[in-house]
Amino acid sequence: MKTFPADFTWGTATASYQIEGAWNEGGKGPSIWDAFTQTPGKIAEGHTGDVTCDHYHQMEQDVALMAAMGLKAYRFSIAWSRILPTGRGEVNKEGIAFYSRLLDELAKHNIVPWVTLYHWDLPLALQLELDGWLNPDMAEHFANYARVCFENFGDRVNHWITFNEPWVIAIMGHSNGVMAPGRTSNAEPYLVAHQLLRSHGRAVDIYRRDFQPAQGGQIGITNNCDWREPKTDSPENKAAAQRALEFFLGWFADPIYLGDYPAVMRERLGDRLPEFSDEDRRLLAGSSDFFGLNHYSTLYAEEMSADQMGKQNPYGNGGISEDQDVELSYDDTWKTSSMGWSMVPWGCQKLLHWIDERYDHPPIVITENGCALEDELVDGGVRDPVRAEFIQTYLSACHDAITAGIDLKGYFVWTLLDNFEWACGFTKRFGLHYTDFATGKRYPKDSAAAYAKIIADNGVE
Ligand code: GAL
Repeated sequence: MKTFPADFTWGTATASYQIEGAWNEGGKGPSIWDAFTQTPGKIAEGHTGDVTCDHYHQMEQDVALMAAMGLKAYRFSIAWSRILPTGRGEVNKEGIAFYSRLLDELAKHNIVPWVTLYHWDLPLALQLELDGWLNPDMAEHFANYARVCFENFGDRVNHWITFNEPWVIAIMGHSNGVMAPGRTSNAEPYLVAHQLLRSHGRAVDIYRRDFQPAQGGQIGITNNCDWREPKTDSPENKAAAQRALEFFLGWFADPIYLGDYPAVMRERLGDRLPEFSDEDRRLLAGSSDFFGLNHYSTLYAEEMSADQMGKQNPYGNGGISEDQDVELSYDDTWKTSSMGWSMVPWGCQKLLHWIDERYDHPPIVITENGCALEDELVDGGVRDPVRAEFIQTYLSACHDAITAGIDLKGYFVWTLLDNFEWACGFTKRFGLHYTDFATGKRYPKDSAAAYAKIIADNGVE
């Protein structure tokens, strides 16, 4: 048995738009995801998150599922437009009441809440009126929204995450347009990323000055990064893999831990990469109490060959990724999930070491890890040994990292239950519980029991 530290955090994660439904109930205003999914052609099979898991109405039952697994922690996000329907102005009391009830229900079961303030569902009004994250004023609006959350929930929340995966907001939302707001540009991702970082810095400053002293919680940001393994040992390919990681994770973590964007980005992007003001720099420095990491997969990286330049390949090369000059590929021997993502536990371990070294040994929390499979409901259950093995092998790699000195504090499975998987709609199932979207019923998969055992043992075989 590989036993984890006694205070290790075991959790699962979800996000508001993916599970809540009730898109126009309880005083909620529309978000960019409501508009995006209701636009024909954007989402697989025309699915929307209008109802999805109906968690808004089935919240107590979902907390009971968590309790049955023995979860220590639950990561969820607040829908900004449930709290402030147009993103600013009057607070919607019904929205406050919903998350208050959720927090009270979690407390009843001794499940510690980890709350994400922004998991991609921007109030639509802010997109239409201000151009969303392109607008420098967004930092003020986000900070005001964050303040409302700290004021109303901070007595019961000790773990805050400002943003989930700013990389996805920048790249998928503003470069390839696969995600809301669906913009396609080679310039905007860098501008959007800059405003997201500034907004993070502002919110953290407010928390630290006005709330942290009394409430005593922690605040951080969650970034996503897959591992990039050099395709060969050549110096060019090693440099390409390093560059890929700096453009992926360094883009968002360097300004917080090292004071500016990676030098390689400055060199290659020139004045396409914005500058931080002294004030921004001051607010960003050390602005994460923990290193939140979402990690799913691994790819090989090599220097991009001349004939690939400008061509669109399946991994998103072409357009913005030419800035990196990196070509990505799979190894045929790697198992893949139904997203087509490779399952490579040692990639997770290598990434943990990379973070540990580059950012001087920060406390790390894996705020998402999981896989989508072709799950089928048979006799009220789902046999998903591959998911159980995925979790077990990734945790085993995490344990090896801890043994080697990495300060890994917690692990959250993505996700509690099958839900609305963004552009893939309901066609991809990541849950520890199977959701029957026709009836709204949930069924524990075998992996839920496997994860419950890991939690009970505080370790993996
Ligand atoms: C993450 C995201 C989640 C979830 C997961 C699986 O990037 O934060 O919302 O969808 O990927 O694709």
